[in-house]
Amino acid sequence: MPETTEKKKVILSAIQPSGTITLGNYLGALRNWVKLQEDYHCIFAVADLHAITVRQEPKTFRQNILNAYALLLACGIDPTKSPVFIQSHVHTHAELAWLLNCYTQFGELSRMTQFKDKSQKHSDNVNAGLFTYPTLMAADILLYQADMVPVGADQKQHLEIARNIAERFNGIYGNTFKLPEPYIAQVGARVMSLQDPTKKMSKSDENVNSWVAVLDKPETIMKKFKRAVTDSDTVVCVGEGKDGINNLIGIMSAVTGKTSEEITAEFEGKGYGDFKAAVGEAVIEELRPIQERFNDYINNKDYLVEQYRKGSEFALKLSQRTLDKAMKKIGFIAK
Ligand code: TYM
Repeated sequence: MPETTEKKKVILSAIQPSGTITLGNYLGALRNWVKLQEDYHCIFAVADLHAITVRQEPKTFRQNILNAYALLLACGIDPTKSPVFIQSHVHTHAELAWLLNCYTQFGELSRMTQFKDKSQKHSDNVNAGLFTYPTLMAADILLYQADMVPVGADQKQHLEIARNIAERFNGIYGNTFKLPEPYIAQVGARVMSLQDPTKKMSKSDENVNSWVAVLDKPETIMKKFKRAVTDSDTVVCVGEGKDGINNLIGIMSAVTGKTSEEITAEFEGKGYGDFKAAVGEAVIEELRPIQERFNDYINNKDYLVEQYRKGSEFALKLSQRTLDKAMKKIGFIAK
C-alpha cells in the first residue's frame, strides 16, 4: 500500500457500477487512470452509492459492483499500487456528503445537466438523491484532498460544483479542502453514440447498437461498428455535419494513437464500409486482453475480496482525517 506521506500528487476517480461499462467509459476515463498510476498517487472507487439514484435490482446490482471492480483491475489498475475501494464500504463518503449538502444551494444543483437529463429519463423516480448526487461526488473527491480528477467531458460540470462547494467551505472556515482540477484527455473525452452521434455514448441508452461494452464479444463489436450511423459523404475525414465519421475517427485515434490526418491519409480512396470494419477491428484488439484478464479476475473472488477490503481500509484511514477536520471546523464536539 502506498505511503500517504508521498509527495506525489493525489488522483481520485470513480465509476458507477450501473450495468455495462462502455467503450466511452474506457476511452474517456479508465484508460487514463491506468496511465496516471505511474506518476501519481491514485485512488479509485466503484461508486455504488451513486448508482442507487436509479432503481437497481439487488441481485444484478451486487454482481455489477463486483464486475466493475474486476474490470478496473482487468483494464490494468494495480490495486497494490493504487488502492481501489467500494464506495459504500467507506462510511465517510455518506457523512461528508450530508455536511456538504448544507453548504450547497438548491439553485446550483438545479442547473446540473445530468440532473435535468436523468430526471427526464426517470420521470417516475425523481428522488432527492438524484438531485444531491453532485454533493456525494464532491465528498468522494474532497475527502482525499485530490489534486486531479480524471474524467470524461460529461463530468466537468460536477467537478466545477465540487470546486465551488470546497471554495465556499474554505471561505467560511479557512483552508479545509484542496481544490481539485479536472483531468480531461485530448482524445476519447467524449465518445458519442454509434446510432445518434450527436449524443454521448451511454450505457443507459435503450438502443444496444448505440454503445459498445468493454465486455462485448468480438463479433458483437464488429456488428455494432458496421451498423454505425454515418452520412452521405464518402471521404474519411473530420468535417462539419459528419458527426458519425468524426466520432469513429476519434475512437480510432484514441485506440491507435494515430492523428486524424494520419487516419484520413490511410483511408484515402477507401469507403466508409472499410473504415468502419477497421475501427471495429482496432477496438476488438484493444479490448481482447482486457476481456481475458476480466475472466481471470472474476473467477478469483478471494483476490477481489482481499483487494477491496484493503482498499477500503486505506480509504477510510485517509478520508477520516478530512472528515474529522471538517467537522471540527464546523463546531461539532469530538468523540
Ligand atoms: P460514470 O460511471 O457515468 O462514468 C465513468 C467515467 O466514464 C466517463 N464517460 C465517458 N467518457 C467519454 N465518453 C463517454 N461517452 C463517456 N461516458 C462516460 C465519465 O466522464 C466518467 O469519468 N459521477 C461519476 C462517477 C463518480 C466520480 C466520483 C467520478 C462518482 N464519484 C468522483 C470522479 C470523481 C459518473 O457517473 O461516472
